[in-house]
Amino acid sequence: MMAKSDIPMIPYLKKGEFKLKEQNQLFCGENTEVLSGMPDNLVDLIYIDPPFFSQRNYELIWGDEAEIRSFEDRWDGGIQVYIDWMRDRILHLHRVLKPTGSIYLHCDWHASHYLKVMLDEIFGPRNFLNEIIWHYTGGGRSKTTFSRKHDTIFLYSKSDSHTFNTDAIRVPYKDTSGYAKTGIVAKSGKRYMPNPEGTLMDDVWDIPIINPMAKERTGYPTQKPEKLLERIIKASSNEGDIILDAFCGCGTALVVAQKLNRRWLGIDISPSAIVLVSSRLGKIEALGPGIEISGLPGTMRELQRMTPYDFQYWAINRMLGAPSPRKSGDMGIDGLSCLNNYPIQVKQNSAGRNVVDNFAQALRRHYQNSKRPVAGFIVALDFTKGAKEEVVRTRNKDKIYIELINIEDVLTGKFNTTQKIVDDDDQTTILSTTQKVNMRKV
Ligand SMILES: C[S@@+](CC[C@H](N)C(=O)[O-])C[C@H]1O[C@@H](n2cnc3c(N)ncnc32)[C@H](O)[C@@H]1O
Repeated sequence: MMAKSDIPMIPYLKKGEFKLKEQNQLFCGENTEVLSGMPDNLVDLIYIDPPFFSQRNYELIWGDEAEIRSFEDRWDGGIQVYIDWMRDRILHLHRVLKPTGSIYLHCDWHASHYLKVMLDEIFGPRNFLNEIIWHYTGGGRSKTTFSRKHDTIFLYSKSDSHTFNTDAIRVPYKDTSGYAKTGIVAKSGKRYMPNPEGTLMDDVWDIPIINPMAKERTGYPTQKPEKLLERIIKASSNEGDIILDAFCGCGTALVVAQKLNRRWLGIDISPSAIVLVSSRLGKIEALGPGIEISGLPGTMRELQRMTPYDFQYWAINRMLGAPSPRKSGDMGIDGLSCLNNYPIQVKQNSAGRNVVDNFAQALRRHYQNSKRPVAGFIVALDFTKGAKEEVVRTRNKDKIYIELINIEDVLTGKFNTTQKIVDDDDQTTILSTTQKVNMRKV
């Protein structure tokens, strides 16, 4: 079993560089680049849930007000631009799918009809197997049309022979089913009895969306329920098979694959998504062969290229902290450290005296009704002389303990999570090296 802190990460993947490993693999990057390096006939099952053609903006709910990251789902050139963009990816996916494999494409009414035509072109109409309707309730209802309460999932195989485990996805008979109670007698006199494992599944699936209190909820805006992926993976793969999700988001397909003892490959362009998947997977007890992550920043230059939100999310996770869960949390506090929950503020650039002053104020607010020592971390590219002087001043004058941490030390793992020491005479000291926490290896 592999702990979260042991998950190895390797730097940015170069185009075309792919090697199937013993471990499951998570790639942060543009999926066409990662896919172009994969050999033909590699995977047994593909599930993709690409950005829909919906002209919407999804906001991650854990960013603070100033730095909400949204993943845009906009296609300015219209549907044809979207379909052409998707075609490039589907061609790669068709190539990497084994002849016995299947692909599930998750979409909705915005583009489903156009996508179906494109899938027919690439996979061939003969290999179309199902149009699955995922029906759900919840959310708003329309008063002028029938409420739109379903997504569409197209299922194609690559050839005539594909894996399909009918018995693995049987569902209970309806309470009203007479057949379930007594079976039926055919004209010939032969009695057919219900299957004790339940009836065969059809192509309309009633599965609830993830409710706000659900344990599996991560906050990722388009997260899909595990139950949906369970049915797909059980139906179209066997233990040990390789599952690929090339738009993995917060990793629902990968988590379910892991739980069902399948191997998996996940790709997403968003570093925040990849960091989230790694921490979600880290919580699963049986991590099997382990995980390798590629494409997350490995150098200072790559860190500088990240969006402010991704950078902040990366830094806090790398310190093994918890990113701020609230959209409008304490202003100036981006997360809490893993030991003692000290507030952390992250700056992608240099930090000066004003940053320390503002953080001191944020700490006062944060600790206002608490007897705990007022302490926290600022992570930044570097710190001006004024910032360092201000740290000394607030410590001596206001008893506010701020530790300044260079990004480079977080990247290289030199930074060790700080532990506070409170002396008997209430002299609080912060020692940076009292407790060493294993950082994830880079
Ligand atoms: C609808 S979400 C997937 C949600 C996922 N099924 C889940 O349960 O969390 C689509 C994902 O595709 C990713 N994405 C968009 N364009 C991409 C690209 N070109 N390469 C890789 N990932 C991409 C987005 O970052 C987003 O996480």
